[in-house]
Amino acid sequence: MTAGRTVHLETFGCQMNELDSELVLGQLASLGYRLTPSPDDADIVLYNTCSVRDHAEQKVRSRLGEMARRKRREPGLIVGVLGCMAERDGEDLIRRMPVVDLLCGPAELDRLPALLDNAARTRAAMLADGHAADRSARQVALQGAASRRTATLAAAEDRLELLDLSRAISPTDHNGSAYVRITRGCNKFCTYCVVPNTRGAEIHRPPDHIVDECRRLADAGVIEVTLLGQTVNHYRFEHGAAVTVGGVTQPQKGRAFTAGRRRDPLAGVRATTFADLLKRIHDEVPAIQRLRFVTSYPRDFGDDALAVMLDSPRICRYLHVPAQSGSDAVLRRMNRGYTVGEYLEFVDRARAFLHEPENGRPLMLAGDMIVGFPGETDEDFAASVRLLERVRYKNCFIFKYSPRPGTAAHDRLADDVPETVKRRRNNALLAVQHTISDEIAQGQVGRTVGVFVEGLSARERKRRPAPGGAVALTVGGRERRTAALVAQGASPQLAGRTDGDLIVLFDAPPGVAADDLIGRIVPVRIERADTLTLFGSLIDPG
Ligand code: SAH
Ligand code: SF4
Ligand code: F3S
Repeated sequence: MTAGRTVHLETFGCQMNELDSELVLGQLASLGYRLTPSPDDADIVLYNTCSVRDHAEQKVRSRLGEMARRKRREPGLIVGVLGCMAERDGEDLIRRMPVVDLLCGPAELDRLPALLDNAARTRAAMLADGHAADRSARQVALQGAASRRTATLAAAEDRLELLDLSRAISPTDHNGSAYVRITRGCNKFCTYCVVPNTRGAEIHRPPDHIVDECRRLADAGVIEVTLLGQTVNHYRFEHGAAVTVGGVTQPQKGRAFTAGRRRDPLAGVRATTFADLLKRIHDEVPAIQRLRFVTSYPRDFGDDALAVMLDSPRICRYLHVPAQSGSDAVLRRMNRGYTVGEYLEFVDRARAFLHEPENGRPLMLAGDMIVGFPGETDEDFAASVRLLERVRYKNCFIFKYSPRPGTAAHDRLADDVPETVKRRRNNALLAVQHTISDEIAQGQVGRTVGVFVEGLSARERKRRPAPGGAVALTVGGRERRTAALVAQGASPQLAGRTDGDLIVLFDAPPGVAADDLIGRIVPVRIERADTLTLFGSLIDPG
């Protein structure tokens, strides 16, 4: 049934989704599906979706509209919605969008091949019978509230862990950079956020699995690894409580968090903390030249983890640690569990440990802010402006509050900041951040920085469409290395990042193939800066 079927998968949302898409495509490819970067060539079109703001969902709804029109011409087309929107919107989505053949939540992705197979069979049988597939034919795998019920956790997680463990790692399928999941789900329940509902309870992967995955990636030529978790610094695995099923150590449910403590109040419980995990990866897989992690939660970031970062030259001096608001009253309503004072204490502590511009190792911070949260006054907003000015992020994502059904804020707090005010505050905060980003970028001019080269710049990709059928296949948002990336003619512009995650653009020198630079760390002298982007030239690529 699957042989020769062609799949297109488009990914929305966060890095977690990009990694999920990579795992899903690896799994489908190993089963004989062909993958295509163009939806038009596909007889199965999948969307890995995000539900974090309404805008993210709108994009998917518009894609589904396009597919509904296409399906009238091609009744055999199969359309699937995967990820957080499938989980959040569930069967409502299927009821409103008859084009959807299958739904698969982020905690059920291991079941996708079976769902696809069933969907294809049922559809084919119904078309052969001469009537359109009806709703009963649809394939649905959602966790619902199951992951928060302990009894079902072990079984569910066992399968998902196997999907991570089965990750297909090929030496040619990456640009030198990879994501590695350390924690799934989230237990924080910030009042605005769908993630605890869509991704389920916080689960920590066994440290040996994580280190092994890093090692396998490094063996395949990956030199940059980004560890993923919603509250990545809460990572903690208790060895005394580890459970093994069928020879596989099971991931572990998150517990009440004890920052920086190596020993649990329960004597004899040995744990791998986040600090321990960072140190293990850094020391045991030295081929990974850049190790970073997202997203950090501002609370419970222990000195132990900062000390490991300080002592580990291959761990990046970069922290993405969203504040969300500069007002204590708003933070309380958001259920963030810290005050502005506590947030700033962490920022100061992190800088005291890690900010060493004189050694060429500044600490770069990135943030997220929400404007227009219910009840946000002009004073609350002014406090958010002050926070940005005080913290000086190298970049900060700024979002207008979007009420999400199923969250506490949606159910209990009126969305009372008018859209015009949200927009005004959004623009004002962007302007403040713009100035700060610009100043930070200007401060880099004249320096020589190590740049991890990710690929052709966006401008270059537009200018150089893939030649003669060689297509750059996008997997997990990254561009696979293909013949299309080889420099042809004039020096192509390349894009990369510094250790502190600043974006750098530079031209490949004449006669140097872009492919020879992609996936490497090269020295670039910064000549000018334009807000979020640095421009420079390569110093002897060696
Ligand atoms: N785990 C991360 C955030 C994951 S969601 C953390 O806690 O920092 C990514 C970002 O989306 C959040 O940091 C927040 O700024 C934004 N966001 C989440 N829900 C939102 C909503 N309902 N409206 C607007 N922005 C939201
Ligand atoms: Fe959402 Fe809060 Fe969890 Fe981040 S920590 S994923 S914002 S609930
Ligand atoms: Fe979106 Fe789900 Fe990530 S809601 S931000 S894809 S965890």
